[in-house]
Amino acid sequence: MEQVPSIQWFPGHMAKTRRLMKSNLPYVDIVVELRDAKIPLSSGNPELPSLIGSKKRVVLLNKCDTADPEMTARWLQWFQKQGIAALAVDSKTGKGLSGFLPLVREELSELLARWAEKGASGRPIRMMVVGIPNVGKSSFINRMAGSRRAKVEDRPGVTRDKQWVSVGGGVELLDMPGVLWPKFDDPAVGERLAVTGAVKDQVLDIELLAMRLLSWLRERYPELLSRYKLTPEDVQGLEPYELLELVGRKRGMLISGGEVNTERAAVTVLDEYRGGKLGRLTLEAPPEETV
Ligand code: G4P
Repeated sequence: MEQVPSIQWFPGHMAKTRRLMKSNLPYVDIVVELRDAKIPLSSGNPELPSLIGSKKRVVLLNKCDTADPEMTARWLQWFQKQGIAALAVDSKTGKGLSGFLPLVREELSELLARWAEKGASGRPIRMMVVGIPNVGKSSFINRMAGSRRAKVEDRPGVTRDKQWVSVGGGVELLDMPGVLWPKFDDPAVGERLAVTGAVKDQVLDIELLAMRLLSWLRERYPELLSRYKLTPEDVQGLEPYELLELVGRKRGMLISGGEVNTERAAVTVLDEYRGGKLGRLTLEAPPEETV
């Protein structure tokens, strides 16, 4: 497999965001981790569990409107099997968010029972949102907080830069998401992050990314190739580069001598995927299903 140059965050960035998160953790009862429903594993940060220690966590598969619903259902089952509470949401329209607070309460049921025993059942549940850049943290906070967001206030025991916004139902959200760095020692993870637009792709090989995407399309969603006027038979047995060439040819992206402008074809394929024009494609399957 070709190596993609890895764009790791600088160690200084990582140390800073890690420190910020650690300093906020003592104030929250639960961590809400956003992931991209199209890449539920690659959009996670493997260090998070050790960072949050024994704190509770719920995973939100955000942007579920852009992912394959059948795959999202399988991913939810997979997370549940790992003992991780998970929910699919669309923070742009708010779809799925009605299930969020009930899930948080369920996850915190033991803590809530302890509070009730101590006569502190009115105590607010506090949470903080974390996730890699662009995964939708701000959109989620805005959706949940709505017009309440203006009513930010300081609370005793909390430093002045920490602000809590009520999201109803006795729940408060830290109005400052924790930014996790994407982690991809595995080039395939970096590629998926780049295909979805989660990391900048200037330094990645655009053609390689488009080839990977088209190969995945052929394997999992062959019917969607009809967008390029191709049938599953047309593309059978082609090398990934030939597949990209064929797509470019079908789109008339030719340069002198009848050669295909594969770079232009690659940019088009990636743009169309990111713009949702290719359809709702999930780019990775739960581990036990990975072929
Ligand atoms: P961040 O704070 O984690 O960095 O992410 P942010 O909320 O800024 O969202 C990044 C992009 O993802 C935004 O698009 C946002 O609209 C989009 N987004 C967030 N949640 C969802 C979702 O559930 N579904 C879909 N389809 N998109 C979502 P943008 O292009 O940067 O801005 P704009 O389109 O909102 O103008």
